Amino acid sequence: MTAANPTRERTTARAAKRPRWSRRNPFPATVLENTLLTAPDSEREVRHLVLDIDGSGLEYEPGDAVNVTPANEPALVAAIVDRLGVPGDTVIADRKGERTLTNALIHGFEITSVSPYLLDHLATARGVREVAELLAGDKADLEQWSRGRDVLDLLNLDATWHPTPEAFLSELRPLTARTYSISSSPSVHRGTLHLTPATVRHRARDDWGDGRDRGGAASTYLADRVEAGDTVGIYLTPNKSFHLPEPDTDIIMVGPGTGIAPFRAFVHERAQDDGNGRNWLFHGARRRDLDFLYSDEMTVLHADGAIDRLDVAFSREQEEKVYVSDLLGSHAEEIYSWLRDGAVLYVCGNADRMARDVDEALTTIIKDQAGLDDESARAEMERLRAAGQYRRDVY
Ligand SMILES: Cc1cc2nc3c(=O)[nH]c(=O)nc-3n(C[C@H](O)[C@H](O)[C@H](O)COP(=O)(O)OP(=O)(O)OC[C@H]3O[C@@H](n4cnc5c(N)ncnc54)[C@H](O)[C@@H]3O)c2cc1C
Ligand SMILES: NC(=O)c1ccc[n+]([C@@H]2O[C@H](COP(=O)([O-])OP(=O)(O)OC[C@H]3O[C@@H](n4cnc5c(N)ncnc54)[C@H](OP(=O)(O)O)[C@@H]3O)[C@@H](O)[C@H]2O)c1
Repeated sequence: MTAANPTRERTTARAAKRPRWSRRNPFPATVLENTLLTAPDSEREVRHLVLDIDGSGLEYEPGDAVNVTPANEPALVAAIVDRLGVPGDTVIADRKGERTLTNALIHGFEITSVSPYLLDHLATARGVREVAELLAGDKADLEQWSRGRDVLDLLNLDATWHPTPEAFLSELRPLTARTYSISSSPSVHRGTLHLTPATVRHRARDDWGDGRDRGGAASTYLADRVEAGDTVGIYLTPNKSFHLPEPDTDIIMVGPGTGIAPFRAFVHERAQDDGNGRNWLFHGARRRDLDFLYSDEMTVLHADGAIDRLDVAFSREQEEKVYVSDLLGSHAEEIYSWLRDGAVLYVCGNADRMARDVDEALTTIIKDQAGLDDESARAEMERLRAAGQYRRDVY
């Protein structure tokens, strides 16, 4: 009898597992639902999308993320085409072959933010002083100046510049996919993948810009240009360091705003398993009636015992702001006891301020509860991180 070739079996297994869908070859997922999660009169706009991935071979776990290949807003594309002063159906040729200028701007290039190449070109080849000074100055000033500006703003800094479409496009960055936490559980929401995108909408400040409404490429694509029945190009990004622990391990989830997305997946998944691990969810919203995401569902899961503890910080329902970091502090003793007994604490959401404030709140909890000094408390935080008891997915 011929012995099986283990090497070959492993290779075949690996090949079978290799993702078929990728950045270059995204899966065209059909949109089954695209609904508003926030109230219509909320200042925040967050949506819930359900995508059909049945039969795609896409396999995800709670904690993984999905990448969406966006298409740019036609009105912004038309304004850029107008500024270039050539017809939108002008055929351009580049590495991708031949396509119209409009098609290239919709599908091929970043136009909702500033391009460093275009900035450089304006400073050096066109001698735009404002840009030259910014590039020579502080990085933070450049970042602040760039926030909210797009490539049309840059074109308009030099009204005398009339580049050919090819010359202009060569100064832009290729359009990239945007990442979203998957908010569904593969064992509960079978054959589908859910995401929870906040729509980025803003306007130029009074002291600059032309009063246009602006929006994020991918989030407005999902909000305004995609409806049930359409397809969206996607591929997965596994996130092993943000997966669930064994079903008997307690978990604490801290997810204000869209940070709740992976935790919706977690709690649905854990409601199905037969483990004894407890689930404690901290969410943050401005107001209960306006932007407490998945509020009905979370309330039912809490009442059913799938979420053992549910604490929500409503930041704008009283004079003083209340954030998830404050709620963690007010439950210091229990948080510490859960962590000491081996709970895994997850943080998801805004990287700038929220993640830092939560980190500080946890350090203070450990310092006070364990009677440590600052340095030892920080060392303990590092130990928790290294042991996989403190996991973050922040953006
Ligand atoms: C791992 C990971 C998970 C993520 N999960 C989620 C998720 O579950 N839900 C979610 O909503 N997002 C999530 N994101 C963020 C998401 O990937 C996008 O960054 C986000 O949707 C914005 O993309 P966009 O294409 O709409 O905006 P872009 O086109 O990338 O933004 C355009 C420009 O808008 C400007 N801008 C943005 N806001 C303002 C403002 N208020 N004022 C002025 N200018 C502004 C900025 O200058 C930015 O460069 C995640 C990111 C990562 C890395
Ligand atoms: N105009 C826009 O398009 C716009 C607006 C907001 C956010 N965004 C972006 O959208 C993305 C998603 O936002 P999101 O939905 O996750 O969050 P979010 O809706 O902006 O915030 C969720 C909750 O977290 C609170 N919060 C603010 N700072 C905090 C902190 N330091 N610690 C703890 N909680 C804090 C908020 O309070 P307060 O808001 O009351 O301070 C709010 O109650 C972020 O990247 C954000 O930058 C875009």
